[in-house]
Amino acid sequence: MKMNREEALGYVRPALKNSRYEHTVRVTDKAVELAERFQVDVKKAELAAAFHDYAKYKPLELMERWIKSDRRLPKDLLDYHHELWHGPVGALMLEQEVGLMDAEVISAISCHTTGKKHMSNLDKVVFLADYIEPGRDFPGVDQVRKKAEDDLDEACALALKNTIIFLIGKERTVYPDTFHAYNDLI
Ligand SMILES: [Fe+2]
Ligand SMILES: [Fe+2]
Repeated sequence: MKMNREEALGYVRPALKNSRYEHTVRVTDKAVELAERFQVDVKKAELAAAFHDYAKYKPLELMERWIKSDRRLPKDLLDYHHELWHGPVGALMLEQEVGLMDAEVISAISCHTTGKKHMSNLDKVVFLADYIEPGRDFPGVDQVRKKAEDDLDEACALALKNTIIFLIGKERTVYPDTFHAYNDLI
């Protein structure tokens, strides 16, 4: 099923808190801007961004069940922070619920929380848009915004580096795909 921006945003809106919905709109705008800049399919970037946080507020038990029962989902997700789950689980929920079958869009939604090895440019655009949308305000974000003006890979590498350092600083675990994504871009 083909959806446009308004349909996709309309679909996710009831699943999100207001502030998260507003974040989603900003990510969608930013993803379109980045896609145009880096010659990525604008419609796919827009759709993936509109849907990216769809599963953010799904009950943890429900997401856990999806991870356990769908063999496309890596079981080791269960060993890491549940904050990471809404990407991979949300992508498959959307695939089932709205028949969102485009593999590239599914991939971008799926890896927005962790990154992964061999990210496509569409994956990178959505990951980066989520990181730098104008509502974000944390140390280092302006440097990433600056890099995102002309280098998609460098901007993603810096965002991943910041994320890894942040997690290590908090003595939190780092999902291996985040290291793979980082290593790939360095
Ligand atoms: Fe997210
Ligand atoms: Fe997000």
